[in-house]
Amino acid sequence: MNNLRHDDAGLTGGELDRLKAAARAASERAYVPYSKFRVGAAVLAQDGDVIAGCNVENASYGLTCCAERATLFSAIAAGKRNLRALLLYTPTPQRYTPCGACRQVIAELAPQAKVICVCDSEESLVATPQELLPASFSL
Ligand code: THU
Repeated sequence: MNNLRHDDAGLTGGELDRLKAAARAASERAYVPYSKFRVGAAVLAQDGDVIAGCNVENASYGLTCCAERATLFSAIAAGKRNLRALLLYTPTPQRYTPCGACRQVIAELAPQAKVICVCDSEESLVATPQELLPASFSL
């Protein structure tokens, strides 16, 4: 997939491998009849659990839910907070970063997480939520 160094994201090699495998498997379950653009995401919780999700589209296009938000909402529903990492995987030659809406949700639900973007080439990015969305909205 790529040769991202696990310590760049503060993870063990095993943790990074588990996140990548979970996100890749989730991307294969993406419901993408309209865009055909598969996205998988996975978060690592403090207790070591990994929760994954994928993008889910709708014929009413605006109702589509990105993989990152689907994953974060599942993590919250599973009682996982203080997430350590969120990995985004696309089965593409280039890496993609979270959309603006997802950045806002990441800023609130995973403020301490390292965001890791990987794909099928060596291209990758590790960033903090603050780097992805400075001055995010909060109440
Ligand atoms: N998508 C994501 O899952 N995450 C993003 O950060 C950006 C876009 C999805 C939404 C839609 O199903 C497809 O990618 C094309 O926009």
